[in-house]
This record gives sequence, structure tokens and C-alpha cells, in this order.
Amino acid sequence: MVSEISYGNWITHGSQVEEDAAVECVRAALDEGVTTFDTADVYAGTRAEEVLGRALKGVRRESLEIFTKVYWPTGSGKNDRGLSRKHIVESVNGSLRRLQTDYVDLYQAHRFDVETPLEETLRAFDDLVRQGKVLYVGVSEWTADQIARALKIADDMGFDRLVSNQPQYSMLWRVIEAEVVPLSEKEGLGQVVFSPIAQGVLTGKYLPGQPPPSGSRATDPSGSGFISRLLEDEVLRRVQDLKPIAADLGLTMAQLAVAWVLQNPNVSSAIVGATRPEQVRDNVKASGVRLDEEILRKIDDVLGPVVERDPAKTVSPAQRP
Ligand SMILES: NC(=O)c1ccc[n+]([C@@H]2O[C@H](COP(=O)([O-])OP(=O)(O)OC[C@H]3O[C@@H](n4cnc5c(N)ncnc54)[C@H](OP(=O)(O)O)[C@@H]3O)[C@@H](O)[C@H]2O)c1
Repeated sequence: MVSEISYGNWITHGSQVEEDAAVECVRAALDEGVTTFDTADVYAGTRAEEVLGRALKGVRRESLEIFTKVYWPTGSGKNDRGLSRKHIVESVNGSLRRLQTDYVDLYQAHRFDVETPLEETLRAFDDLVRQGKVLYVGVSEWTADQIARALKIADDMGFDRLVSNQPQYSMLWRVIEAEVVPLSEKEGLGQVVFSPIAQGVLTGKYLPGQPPPSGSRATDPSGSGFISRLLEDEVLRRVQDLKPIAADLGLTMAQLAVAWVLQNPNVSSAIVGATRPEQVRDNVKASGVRLDEEILRKIDDVLGPVVERDPAKTVSPAQRP
């Protein structure tokens, strides 16, 4: 079981925001009933896990679900990356140390590693489950075909099965709907989706033809490169047109965005980011909101061609980064 809203610390902890703001966001999340926290070994060059570990210190471990990931480089060495047995074992030990915990609840392959035999990765994951260092295993941004291959190997070899996928999913980015979601429904995986607010774009705070507001991700050196592709005027114009829909429902734009991903029954949790505790308190109110068919249709009409649906947009690097 996870909370419907999770809190994630990519870009923010150990980088964009100071430690006291990071801790305040985590406290706000806990106060609002968030129990699921997502991070990764690679975030802020491993500092994000350290910040989260400190922020959660003293919280009853049984009341938390802590997720982390492995794949992207954590050092300059040729083995400090990917999904080899060597890197998985070394990386999980580093994550446990930084998070100050004996186990993580969900350990996720952050991308598909084309250079490691899938059997090796899945056996290493299974070993971590046997050792009690991770309780469940999942993946992030894998294609339906990659997930299906992993499930087949797990079934043939008697390994623990993948329980989840962590894809990008929002009103603007729906590439999992055609293939990943149908396979996951059939096989019993849940989606723990990231960037449900499109990194802040779906709040409507970025205005077409104008510079981004100061203190936002688009002005942050570590975040601006990731959000820039979402800042096209055509996208921003259409997002502004969602404002009356949110207002009619008595929702903020962020709440409408998060509620939208939660309407998909295969979505187990929406991982939101936040740089301030007020954002956490705003975003969590999306939990439990129902959007009827007519609202969903209106959203589709407003966004029209800027919605991305091509399943081929789910891609892992062609070689290890
Ligand atoms: N598996 C992967 O490859 C992957 C990739 C990306 C993310 N993730 C996970 O998903 C988590 C969430 O991703 P994300 O941060 O991109 O999600 P997001 O929730 O779409 O965007 C979060 C950002 O939007 C802005 N924001 C959020 N709520 C707001 C509000 N109510 N009002 C105004 N601005 C608001 C804040 O940035 P500013 O205040 O700076 O504008 C915040 O940091 C990450 O922390 C990570 O755990 C995973």
C-alpha cells in the first residue's frame, strides 16, 4: 500500500532548495498524510538521498514507504552506472547508508540497461529481496516489451516479479496509455507516475511570451534544462485555457493536474515535487477528487494537439550513460 500522493525530491533536495526548506516540505507531506517518498541514488549527485534520510529521521519506519532507484551514474568509474550485479549491490548499500535505513520498500531500475543481460539484473534484484535490503522491485520508464521480457524471466526463474513502473505521466504526456498501461493491468503492475504537474507547467504560472517567474524550476540551473522542452508558447497558451475548468471545479491548477493522473485506475500514486511546503499542501488536496467524463473531454479539447501520445517516446539510452 502506498499513499495516493507521493513526495519526490528530484532537482530540489541537495540542489535547488536549502536543507531547511527541504525538511519543511517533507514535514508538510507527513502532516498531510503522505507516507510514500521517492528519491534516487543519482539525484543531486547522491546528496538528495542524504537530505531525505535526515528529514525522515525519527519517523516511525513502519509508517513510511521509501523508494529509490539505480542506473544513472553515481561516480566517474565505468562500473558506477547501469544495472550490472556489481553496480546494483554497491549502489543499494550506498543508498541504505545515505537514507539511514536497513531496507528500502521499493527499488527501481531507473532505465533499461541495454548492456547488461536482463537475467543478471533480475537475479541481483531478487538477491536483494532475499537479503531483506529491498522489499519490492520495480522499473522506471521501461517499454511494455521490456517489462514483458522481465516478467517472463522472473516467472521462468522463480524471481520476485516487478510490482511497478515509474513513468512520466500528465495531461500533456500520455505515452504510457497505449501499451504500458494495458500490459501492466493484465500483469498486475501499478504505475507510480512522475511529473504529474509537468514540472510546474500545469500550474499555469509560466505565461506564453514572458520570462519564467523567478524562483521557479525554469530559472534554476539544475532544473531549467529539463523543463525547457515544455515551455513552448503553444503549450503555455493552451494550459492557460485550462484555468476556467479548474476554477469551475473549485480546484487549483496543480490540483486539477494531479487529480487528472489519478483518474487512471492503473495509477497507484502520483509523485509530486515541491520547493515550498505550501505547494505540498496545495497538491495533496487532489487526492480523492473525481473528474467526470465531460471534464476529461473538455481538457482534451483545450489541449488538443499538444498532448503527446506516441508510445515510442518511452526510451532508455542506447548505451550506458
Ligand atoms: N523516474 C524518473 O526518471 C523520474 C524523473 C523525474 C521525476 N521523478 C520523480 O517524480 C518526482 C516529481 O517530479 P517533478 O518534480 O518533475 O514533479 P511535478 O510535481 O510535476 O513538478 C514539481 C515542481 O513544480 C513546481 N510546483 C509543484 N507544485 C506547485 C504548486 N502547487 N504551485 C506552483 N508550483 C508548483 C515546483 O517547482 P518550482 O517551485 O521550482 O517551480 C516543484 O518542484 C521527482 O521528485 C522524482 O521523485 C522521476
